[in-house]
Amino acid sequence: MWNERYATPEHVYGTEPNAFLVSLAHRIPPGGRVLCLMEGEGRNAVFLAGLGHEVTAMDGSEVGLAKARTLAGQRGVSLQAMHADAADFTIEPGAWDGIVSIYGHLPPPLAERIHRAAAAGLRPGGVLILEAFAKSQLGKGTGGPKDPAMLYDLEILCRQLAGLRLEIAREVEREVHEGRHHTGLGSVIQILAVRKA
Ligand SMILES: C[S@@+](CC[C@H](N)C(=O)[O-])C[C@H]1O[C@@H](n2cnc3c(N)ncnc32)[C@H](O)[C@@H]1O
Repeated sequence: MWNERYATPEHVYGTEPNAFLVSLAHRIPPGGRVLCLMEGEGRNAVFLAGLGHEVTAMDGSEVGLAKARTLAGQRGVSLQAMHADAADFTIEPGAWDGIVSIYGHLPPPLAERIHRAAAAGLRPGGVLILEAFAKSQLGKGTGGPKDPAMLYDLEILCRQLAGLRLEIAREVEREVHEGRHHTGLGSVIQILAVRKA
């Protein structure tokens, strides 16, 4: 499904980074190793590489990652594009200064495994930045999965990130205009979580 969605010359989520990530990118330790989960066509990874981070962009869509590589080339930055299914993907514990998940919706058991692994994957001082649609997004028609099980719940997400200091953990409504699939007022969960140094 994702390969089909991405099989068009345009970047369907745009080429500009996610606004929540932009507002918090300065919290990632300088020159850090950053893992962008479910990164699609690379808009966030390319932005972070441009800030001087060493970025790995992981996604299950080869077509999306090919566009990520092209975008990186156009912007004169380098990144590692890693084709992997989240179901088989291992996040090395204590290895990352930043882990980013932007609209990385997964089915519940897999989401739990990945979020717990992301929490464990941070180095001391490392940060997790996550934005995703909340359950209350259902029916809004402005983006996100149509299956309610794929939408996230703030309380559950916070439990999955146990062990991290949650500096931001909130559900908000905001205008999301990021490509042609995210087009208006959306209910989103926003997380900034830090592994204590
Ligand atoms: C809504 S897009 C978000 C892409 C990107 N993070 C962004 O903000 O532009 C969701 C992404 O999750 C990826 N994805 C979905 N299920 C996945 C899985 N099981 N393993 C790896 N990637 C997956 C899709 O390929 C898609 O690129």
